Amino acid sequence: MLDWNETQNAPLLASTLSANPADTTGLGSIDRSGGRVNVDDKAMINCRADVNQLLPLKYKWAWEKYLAACNNHWMPTEVSMQADIALWKSREGLTEDERRMVKRNLGFFAASESLVANNIVLAIYRHLTNPECRQYLLRQAFEEAVHTHTFQYIVESLGLDEGELFNMYREIPSITDKAAWALKHTQGIENPSFVTGTPEADQAFLRDLIAFYVVFEGMWFYTGFAQILALGRRNKMVGIAEQYQYILRDESIHLNFGIDVINQIKIENPHLWTPSFQDEVRQMLREAAELEAAYGRDTMPRGFLGLNAALCEQYMHFIANRRCGQLGLAPVFAEAENPFPWMSEAMDLKKEKNFFETRVIDYQSGGALAWD
Ligand SMILES: [Fe+2]
Ligand SMILES: [Fe+2]
Repeated sequence: MLDWNETQNAPLLASTLSANPADTTGLGSIDRSGGRVNVDDKAMINCRADVNQLLPLKYKWAWEKYLAACNNHWMPTEVSMQADIALWKSREGLTEDERRMVKRNLGFFAASESLVANNIVLAIYRHLTNPECRQYLLRQAFEEAVHTHTFQYIVESLGLDEGELFNMYREIPSITDKAAWALKHTQGIENPSFVTGTPEADQAFLRDLIAFYVVFEGMWFYTGFAQILALGRRNKMVGIAEQYQYILRDESIHLNFGIDVINQIKIENPHLWTPSFQDEVRQMLREAAELEAAYGRDTMPRGFLGLNAALCEQYMHFIANRRCGQLGLAPVFAEAENPFPWMSEAMDLKKEKNFFETRVIDYQSGGALAWD
């Protein structure tokens, strides 16, 4: 068996580890003479304290999100699909426009959940050198698996063409463009030779966090949720709508965890958050909103059920400005009103248990719904 610390065939890895007596992966050789971790030694990135010691906790917000996420446990197979199956199979159940939107929406999410999961596991986890944040990432990775399972379950229940759905991120340009934009920011970070510790590398890591947590999960997912929940509100595809409600509840915590991580890295590394970097981040959010507007036009060439491409674009402007505010940035668009105020109701499962009048599963055992 290969000994990572002694092999001569991995000079980069070996030098990385020996350069960090308390290594950032947590898998280096054990420092038998090292002292115990002091809470002040803990840091979000480039930490020199032992990453295998959860306690003492430094970032209580990360631990609280882990607990809240555990309270939100759900499985897609517990939601009945009978009404959806009947509606999908009946000729008059949905219009052609509604079917197009549903299929492309499912196709967008089906592969996106895997992209997000792979980014967490293969790019982010290694560089986030804090055990309480890693604890949350482990929970989030499981939730992304549950979300991917949801799309498998929907495909199976409705008898959809699995190849068509899971290849949409490669075959439908408005979906491919979004995936390619996000992947651009993870490529490099997931390269085994990438290490943080220089301003350039740390900014590249921040870009990846922004692309996935703020844009992918915090912007693009939101129009996707609005599309399906708009159907659910009209009593159409209520099983999928209920599953999306649970996904939305999970994703709102993912988003807010990402925002907290980025803001904490900023606090600890103010030299990274330069005016030019802030401009770059604002430009990322602007581009992301434009990509989403193109997806809106593609999935909804005509309006229906109170939804259309123009309203989705307005919603994206509203959301992008809100994300800017959460990151301490000036807004990127002129002030926009939220065209879908009912989205916040849909998120509050505790208050709106019977939102879609399907089977209700009340997993929520704590107050964990304050994040949007
Ligand atoms: Fe997800
Ligand atoms: Fe997520």
